[in-house]
Amino acid sequence: MPDSKKLKIAVLVSGRGSNLQAIIDAQKNGQIDSHVTMVFSNKEKAPALKRASDAKIPCTVIPSSEKENHVFQSELLQAVADEGPDLIVLAGFMRILSSDFISTFQGRIINIHPSLLPAFPGLHAVRQALAAGVKLTGCTVHFVDDGCDTGPIILQTAENILDTDDESSLAARLLQKEHQTLIKAIRLLEQNKVVLSDNKTRLREGL
Ligand code: GRF
Repeated sequence: MPDSKKLKIAVLVSGRGSNLQAIIDAQKNGQIDSHVTMVFSNKEKAPALKRASDAKIPCTVIPSSEKENHVFQSELLQAVADEGPDLIVLAGFMRILSSDFISTFQGRIINIHPSLLPAFPGLHAVRQALAAGVKLTGCTVHFVDDGCDTGPIILQTAENILDTDDESSLAARLLQKEHQTLIKAIRLLEQNKVVLSDNKTRLREGL
């Protein structure tokens, strides 16, 4: 793959880790040049940790429970800074990052969210879409800023909502789209094709 930079990726997780797995698989099968160098979890029992260790990726657990938020945030910031990633992927990471963290890694943090933002930010995005009765939803990869799911959008993929859908059937279809969209976004970033200006992104010419 010409003109592409191998990014050191840190992935932050709290749970299942299917998006982490999608990155690991994409790295293995050559869809992306970048590689996950560290996985950080705020949950000791996150199934994502097994996926990381199966792929021989070092993991750091920084428990968020039983400590004050500012203590957790400063431990996390220090640990991620020590790793020096080029890109930080929030893949089901269930904590809001501190503004210190966001300013330290400005423009280098991305998140995957299961709706077409700005619709349905926050928790239970799939449930929100079903409750609103929309016919189309999707997923979004965006840069992370200080707001909740508000940063500049990099890529979105749409998915039809069927009359027969419930939360689990729709979430399962969306998850496939999430994995594909996240890998496409990482590919664009490693090729330096995402231009960020005025709180929006555009793709560099030549795509
Ligand atoms: C995904 O739906 C993602 O969009 C959301 O949290 C879920 C994480 O799933 N932010 P997984 O842990 O990657 O399987």
